[in-house]
Amino acid sequence: MSSPSGEKRNPPKGREARRRLFFALWPDSPVRRAIADRRAAFESEPGRCVPDRNLHITLLFLGDQPAETVEPVIEVAAGVSGPGFPLVLDRLGWFARARVAWLGGRAPRSGEALVGGLEAAVRSIGIELQRRRWHPHATLFRRVDRRPRLPKVEPLEWDVTGFSLVESIPGKPYQVLRTWPLQSDP
Ligand code: 2AM
Repeated sequence: MSSPSGEKRNPPKGREARRRLFFALWPDSPVRRAIADRRAAFESEPGRCVPDRNLHITLLFLGDQPAETVEPVIEVAAGVSGPGFPLVLDRLGWFARARVAWLGGRAPRSGEALVGGLEAAVRSIGIELQRRRWHPHATLFRRVDRRPRLPKVEPLEWDVTGFSLVESIPGKPYQVLRTWPLQSDP
């Protein structure tokens, strides 16, 4: 079997193959570096550092899906459009339940609309989702058991120009399967 990225995948052993998928804002190198730089604001590492190459902002988590769902997800995602938007990441935070420390900011309207469009698209092909508000954040550290001190950071403005479908494979860097552009200003 061949995945959309062209890589060969092993056939499922014994049970149906599942693929863990999510839509994300995927930073280019300068934005990636700028996100990673904000880590230095922590006095000491409060948990396990997320490797720079994995830094991203999740738009919509699809969870473990049957392998044959990937193609239909790509098809419906291609129909999702909207304007690009500026995303300001201006504060550090901590999610107690998820035990993650992050860099995030307010959700811009166009970002919320993009998430809504993706939700509707994947629901149209029968994928069930939990309803959740979108809190744009890039996880910097995992396994953060206690609230760390969260100093101020220099705001980072990210001009979002597209969105990606990404796969999480245990023990590997996240794999970007496909990226779609958002509309630029006329
Ligand atoms: P996180 O960074 O806040 O942990 C791949 O695991 C991506 O999907 C991560 O960005 C992660 O968010 C997100 N993710 C994992 N499990 C999730 C869940 N149950 N609900 C929402 N997002 C999830």
